[in-house]
Amino acid sequence: MEILKVENLKKYFPVQKSFIEVLFSKELEFIRAVDRINFSVEEGEILSLVGESGCGKTTVGRMLVGLEEPTDGKIIFKNKDLTSLRGEERRAMHRYLQIIFQDPYASLNPKMKIGDHLMDPLLIHGIASNNEAKKMAIEMLERVGLVPAEQFFNRLPYQLSGGQRQRVAIARAMVLKPEFVVADEPVSMIDVSLRAAILNLLLSFKEEYRLSMLFITHDLSVARLVGDRIAVMYLGKIVEIGGVDEVIHEPKHPYTAALLSAVPSFEKRDLRIDIKGDVANPRSPPPGCRYHPRCPFARRECREIEPDLVGDTHKVACHYPLEIRVD
Ligand SMILES: Nc1ncnc2c1ncn2[C@@H]1O[C@H](COP(=O)(O)OP(=O)(O)OP(=O)(O)O)[C@@H](O)[C@H]1O
Ligand SMILES: [Mg+2]
Repeated sequence: MEILKVENLKKYFPVQKSFIEVLFSKELEFIRAVDRINFSVEEGEILSLVGESGCGKTTVGRMLVGLEEPTDGKIIFKNKDLTSLRGEERRAMHRYLQIIFQDPYASLNPKMKIGDHLMDPLLIHGIASNNEAKKMAIEMLERVGLVPAEQFFNRLPYQLSGGQRQRVAIARAMVLKPEFVVADEPVSMIDVSLRAAILNLLLSFKEEYRLSMLFITHDLSVARLVGDRIAVMYLGKIVEIGGVDEVIHEPKHPYTAALLSAVPSFEKRDLRIDIKGDVANPRSPPPGCRYHPRCPFARRECREIEPDLVGDTHKVACHYPLEIRVD
């Protein structure tokens, strides 16, 4: 069963122009951070979202949890279109949709005790009385390995290490028993030696709560490890989506193949596809396929016509998809 479905989701940010720029052009310009994307996530499934810096991953995640208003499109969660809900109804649905941020230092309030970070969401959503909330907070601190929980409960964020803070961030999201979590690069700012433990903690909730997840990362090897399926984003578009094995072993988009060639642990594989140049500017994406200026296989059609994302379970947006198998 589908828990989340995104239809033609779009986020354009207006560009702040200087006075001189306004004089010479009256047209409003936009950063096309997310440009009409479609995907769905099944109950209990993890979809990994990968792509280079600036391609729009965080913006997708922020729209899902209501931190950013979509410019257009639908977010259907548990059969309700979140973009059409307002006020109380919307807040009630968002209880089941939580986010874990990349930066464990910025995501906690420095003046607030760890325990209050966990109690607040329970009290705000009216789920528990003060005493119950405290009990649930302590239980959750134990569950995420912050013991003795009573001690951690009374500490302030600065008294915790980065890894411990990320455990608090996970605990804060999980205390509401969400059905869907957006994890935005949850281990990229954590010491390498602690990453596996944090990932395992996150995954343990998947089993326990039958949790679904959008797992955002720029690292394909992490995307493979964690995800059931992988979606590859390029400049505001999903260019390929499919099962982990399909995407890793039978990449169809030259961009996916190039990303795979760059993963050190995959290097022994017989795959060498390079990317030319830098990411284009989302203010003025190239016409046709947005990847064409960097694609070694681009032909005339690619420069003129934007390809649709097509296919059955394994979809690709490319006029000339690759047909390769790499083991
Ligand atoms: N509030 C905002 N106002 C204006 N532009 C924004 C805003 N938020 C994001 N952008 C722009 O939208 C584009 C996508 O940003 P986003 O943060 O979603 O990328 P990302 O894929 O998460 O990158 P990273 O891997 O570096 O985290 C970027 O060009 C960014 O500068
Ligand atoms: Mg980001």
